Amino acid sequence: MSSENPSHLEQSGASDESLQQVHARLQANKPEKAQGNPRFPLVLLGIMCAAIFFGAVYLAHYSAHFDASIYNEHQKPSAQVATGPVITPAMLGKRVFTANCMTCHQATGQGVPGVYPPLAGSEFVLKPEHEKHIIKIVLYGLNGPITVKGANFNNAMTPFGGILKDEQIANVLTYVRSEWGNSAPAITPEQVAAIRAEFGARGPWTVEELLKSP
Ligand code: HEC
Repeated sequence: MSSENPSHLEQSGASDESLQQVHARLQANKPEKAQGNPRFPLVLLGIMCAAIFFGAVYLAHYSAHFDASIYNEHQKPSAQVATGPVITPAMLGKRVFTANCMTCHQATGQGVPGVYPPLAGSEFVLKPEHEKHIIKIVLYGLNGPITVKGANFNNAMTPFGGILKDEQIANVLTYVRSEWGNSAPAITPEQVAAIRAEFGARGPWTVEELLKSP
């Protein structure tokens, strides 16, 4: 501070006063150390304590225990995938149906009277003894007369063995067997693969031929 600088005192014309007098005068003019509101730091301390307390209560309520699945953006969401929507074979089969079968058998599975037989409520789709038959129909196609739900058809269905994989055929038949009120067990890719391996490359079936084979 300049008050302790003797050369400064001389410049300000205080050279005739004794050093003690000047000192005493400056001391008297010095501002009190404890000036201002002495309670202010206490108020500040109180505000800080309240803020810390509020913060602690807030974290206790909303921190979710700092769960890594919420706070860690780099975490792989394995736990969330497990609880997410599950894609079933029937759901995949619906896509295959929409792309390959719907034009003839219709979205309702009712077919077209006299032209395309129904899949909804069809004994071929539902009965256990026809389980292998419908795999054969989709793999190799079907020609000639057929009776479905008491109605006669005499048309031709195109083969899908060259277009669809075993899994796709299994999925579409699983869909057909569980849609429109139908309720029959799923078809597996292994069942389709077994029939493909047994018959290899061949032409369309007739119903007469199908009923002779298991
Ligand atoms: C081009 C039209 C057409 C397409 C596409 C088609 N079908 Fe067919 N489907 C037929 C016809 C026609 C018959 C009956 C054939 C006959 O008269 O011998 C038939 C018969 C069937 C049968 C046995 C009879 C019954 O109604 O249950 C099943 C099962 C079947 N189709 C499933 C499918 C599936 C699954 C697909 C798609 C992968 C498909 N079809 C695509 C026309 C079609």
